[in-house]
Amino acid sequence: MIALTDVHKRFAGSAGAALNGVSLEVARGEVFGVIGPSGAGKSTLIRLINALEVPSAGSVVVDGVDVASLRPPELRALRRRIGMIFQNFGLLSSRTVAANVAFPLRLAGVARAEREAKVAGLLARVGLADHAAKYPAQLSGGQKQRVGIARALATDPDILLCDEATSALDPETTRSVLDLLRTLNRDLGLTVVLITHEMEVVRTVCDRVAVLDQGQVVETGAVADIFAGATHAATRRMLAAIGA
Ligand SMILES: Nc1ncnc2c1ncn2[C@@H]1O[C@H](COP(=O)(O)OP(=O)(O)OP(=O)(O)O)[C@@H](O)[C@H]1O
Ligand SMILES: [Mg+2]
Repeated sequence: MIALTDVHKRFAGSAGAALNGVSLEVARGEVFGVIGPSGAGKSTLIRLINALEVPSAGSVVVDGVDVASLRPPELRALRRRIGMIFQNFGLLSSRTVAANVAFPLRLAGVARAEREAKVAGLLARVGLADHAAKYPAQLSGGQKQRVGIARALATDPDILLCDEATSALDPETTRSVLDLLRTLNRDLGLTVVLITHEMEVVRTVCDRVAVLDQGQVVETGAVADIFAGATHAATRRMLAAIGA
């Protein structure tokens, strides 16, 4: 579903490369984790997948198409197939929960009646049917993230990108959001790319994981294998941090 081949990313004016020859493949329907310490290049990597960033070298292919080759209308179509959720939720504070979820549908020109039906279905799916008329400030962190998830699902994406989606949440709420992502993955066949700096998140929800350190993939494989026998120092440090 997603293939990065020898991707390099260097930002203008910065000394080192954010990504330095990254190759990885994410299969359709899997939950793929990318873990690494702060500054490793995780957010840069995920932003390449929906072409919010362009690689300095190498290729990013989504569902068989090199995203660098897309013209603006095709790029917009691709972005509708890729939902994204963020650490800080990214909700519009002056709009209700329902209006936040409806936002991408408005952008896509969906008519009002269809929009309202769709939003009701999405809020039910994430367990927020009773909160449609509230504003973000009236919600808990976990509820805000559920709004972010419902909004990301509004355009029926095939891929969901999650950048530190649970790092602002307490362990119990993290668990419930990860359970929701797993359910969506199973029920909708959604391919999920999940970025985190917490091994516990990887253990809870991911099928496979890539460990990113200083812009390079230093280890990749099935989560069980990484937990059973991590070889790289960066991986072992992250495992030690959770006592695994
Ligand atoms: N827009 C930018 N301009 C210049 N440098 C950038 C930009 N975005 C990221 N970088 C640099 O690229 C490197 C990787 O950053 P990135 O945000 O991808 O790391 P990260 O793994 O997501 O870190 P964190 O866990 O702290 O979110 C860092 O050295 C960062 O300073
Ligand atoms: Mg980041």
